[in-house]
Amino acid sequence: MTKFRIEPGSVQETLIIPLYGRKLCAELFPMQYHDKSAARICESLDYDFSELDRQAESTLWRFGALEAAMRQLDMQWEIDDYLASHPRAAVVNMGCGLDQTGRACDNGTCGIYNVDMPDIIEARRQLSLAGERELNIASNLNDFAWMDAIDGSDGAVFFAAGVFCYLTFDQARALTAELARRFPGGRLVFDAMGKLGKKLMHQTFKNFGMENYDNCLFLEDVAEVEAWVPTARVSSRGYMLGYHDMSDPAVTKLHRFLARRCDDTVKMRIVRIDFAGKPE
Ligand SMILES: C[S@@+](CC[C@H](N)C(=O)[O-])C[C@H]1O[C@@H](n2cnc3c(N)ncnc32)[C@H](O)[C@@H]1O
Repeated sequence: MTKFRIEPGSVQETLIIPLYGRKLCAELFPMQYHDKSAARICESLDYDFSELDRQAESTLWRFGALEAAMRQLDMQWEIDDYLASHPRAAVVNMGCGLDQTGRACDNGTCGIYNVDMPDIIEARRQLSLAGERELNIASNLNDFAWMDAIDGSDGAVFFAAGVFCYLTFDQARALTAELARRFPGGRLVFDAMGKLGKKLMHQTFKNFGMENYDNCLFLEDVAEVEAWVPTARVSSRGYMLGYHDMSDPAVTKLHRFLARRCDDTVKMRIVRIDFAGKPE
C-alpha cells in the first residue's frame, strides 16, 4: 500500500507530534489511555519517525506523550458531556489533523465532522478515515463558509485540540463569535496556554515555519475570553489534571509534578464556552 507523505516543515506537520504522542502514550500508559488508532495511522504515513523514536526514550518526551493523550481525553469528556443532553448533535473536530476523537465519542446518533486544510483532508481520504455519519471538510477555519456544511439543528459541539495556538487573537475571537452566532446552544472547547507556555513553544513553532508566531493566541487569564461573546458562559479546567487524576501506576512522581506545573505555572487550560440560546 502507498503511504501518505507528510511534508516536513509545514504547519500540517504539527499533527505528527500529538499523533505520535498518543501512539506512545497508549504503549507506555495503557491504563491511562488505550486508543490504538494513532499507532495504526502512524504506520500508514510516509514520515521519518526515527528522531521521535529516539527522543521517546527521555522522561520529557514521555511526559509530552501524556500531554497529547490527556488533551484528547479532556476533549472527549466535554463531548460526551454535551452528547448526554444532545445525542444527535454535530461533533466538529476543528483542525483535526489525523485525530479520531469524533469516532471515539460516537454514540451512534451524532454527526461527526472533521475540518482541516485540504492536504490533511486528502490524507484522511486516502487513509479511509471517514466512517458512518462522518464528513471531512477541506477548509481554512478562518473562511467561515465551512460552517454551512454543519447540521447543528440538534446541537453542536466544536473542539480544537492544539489548534487555537496557531490562530491570532483576532482570528480566535472572530471564529468564536461566528460559531456563537450560527450555533445557539452550542459548545466550543479548545486548549490554550499562558505567556510562559508560548515562550517555551517558540522553537517548535519556528521549526514549523510559523511566521505570525508573535501574534498567536495565548491566554494569561481565561476571563479574557468572556469579552469574545458576552452572552456565553466561559469556564476552564487544568489541561493535565482538571479532568483525570492520572492514576496509571506508570505515571511517575516527576510526571505528576510536571503536570501540576503545566496547569498552574504554564497555565495550560481547557477552555469551554457554552453559547446562549437553544439549537434552531
Ligand atoms: C498540532 S496539529 C493538531 C491536530 C489534531 N487536532 C490533534 O490533536 O492531533 C494542528 C492542526 O491544525 C490545523 N490547522 C492549523 N491552522 C488551521 C487553520 N487556520 N485552518 C484549518 N486547520 C488548521 C493543522 O493543519 C494541523 O492539522
